[in-house]
Amino acid sequence: MTWCGTSGNGFLQSRDGSLGVQRIRTLSDLTASDLQNRRLLVRLDYNVPLDGNGEVSDRTRIDATIPSIERLRRAGARVLLVSHLGRPGGQRAPSSSLRPIAAELSRTLGTPVPLLEDLPGTKALEAAVAALRPGEVALLENIRFHPGETRNDPDLCRSLADLADAFVGDAFGAAHRTHASTVGAARVIRDRGGPVVAGVLMARELHFLDRALRTPGRPFVAIMGGAKISGKIDVIRAILPRVDRLLVGGAMANTFLRALGFETGASFVEEDRVPMARDLMEEAGDKLLLPVDCVVADELTPADRTRDVDRAELPSGVKIGDIGPRSREIFSREASRAATVLWNGPLGVFEIAPFSRGTFHLARSLAEAADRGAVVVVGGGDSAAAAQRAGVAHRMTHISTGGGASLDLLAGKELPGVAVLDTVEAPDHSELWSDGVIGG
Ligand code: 3PG
Repeated sequence: MTWCGTSGNGFLQSRDGSLGVQRIRTLSDLTASDLQNRRLLVRLDYNVPLDGNGEVSDRTRIDATIPSIERLRRAGARVLLVSHLGRPGGQRAPSSSLRPIAAELSRTLGTPVPLLEDLPGTKALEAAVAALRPGEVALLENIRFHPGETRNDPDLCRSLADLADAFVGDAFGAAHRTHASTVGAARVIRDRGGPVVAGVLMARELHFLDRALRTPGRPFVAIMGGAKISGKIDVIRAILPRVDRLLVGGAMANTFLRALGFETGASFVEEDRVPMARDLMEEAGDKLLLPVDCVVADELTPADRTRDVDRAELPSGVKIGDIGPRSREIFSREASRAATVLWNGPLGVFEIAPFSRGTFHLARSLAEAADRGAVVVVGGGDSAAAAQRAGVAHRMTHISTGGGASLDLLAGKELPGVAVLDTVEAPDHSELWSDGVIGG
């Protein structure tokens, strides 16, 4: 059977159309006997920021994993959680320990979640996992303390697979990595006849970042911000044919303004990308909207005096820190008309008060759009943080937990951590995700 995926990420359509459609197998497809008393290896992404005291400073990624864990506990599974944190380079590093995450999980789940410090391949770890009782959860210490993890080392893959009867892929944020715990161990488990399924978080991410944006309600508006075109060019190219409007803000817009021939003062511009910006503008035609005015200052610091200026009247020497008031209105108007919105990247240096208004104004408009029923998908850590600081994150339809992974998915690239998951027949498109997984 030859399949030609539209994205390679879960919606696989037969080439001749006659064989129906497949979808990724999810936790909801598993039966009680697949779970009860079974050892489930759940790969999650607990690569979360820690503060100066080593405490978790942003719980978003942890909270997003709770629905899968709860579901497995209720089903009487014996749950081994696996994640990385940071890039310790295959060595134990106390600053990258998952101990603070184990503490957060214990508090949230209301049950002890022990941290298992022995490495895969040791008798001690095998015994600790074997001792888990139905409904119990343990967290393996940072898998990147093992030198084989990032090399997808076959021995490590087998050692991890030895600890489990089934695999749940819920590490969307790490799904672009072909590592032992994201891909290799899952393959071994499947080769041994065990199920390899998407968790609740993974299913939600694929639903909103892939399917919802592939069959969007119209108008479909994408808002791209952040510093560099270079990091998002693949995403822009992939979504341009599908969107009705592409709004560009943030420092990325400076490169477009330069391509239009405007003075950009001392602002950050990717000089080598100016021709690329020109090509994109030609390709996008009137779909593309850029800021018409900007907030500028001599330096982008909280203390500096700011001015609102038309983009055609930028004084030399100043730096652009945000979109201006007229642009705020235009961006908000477009956002409020949309039925589907993808927002990736802030419109200014929102961490610094005088330059936060464009981003926060947009975040509030998007929350209102979502309240009215638009599908608003926020991708990338910075926009998620901005939505949170604007106090509206909870009103968005979906906030992705993936950084690089969400960019790769939006760019239409296959994610190895998704490609490894089992698929099942889904004869009717409407059934693809109506299995209760979405909405957790
Ligand atoms: C992330 O935070 O983007 C993921 O956890 C992947 O981390 P990595 O870039 O260190 O592989």
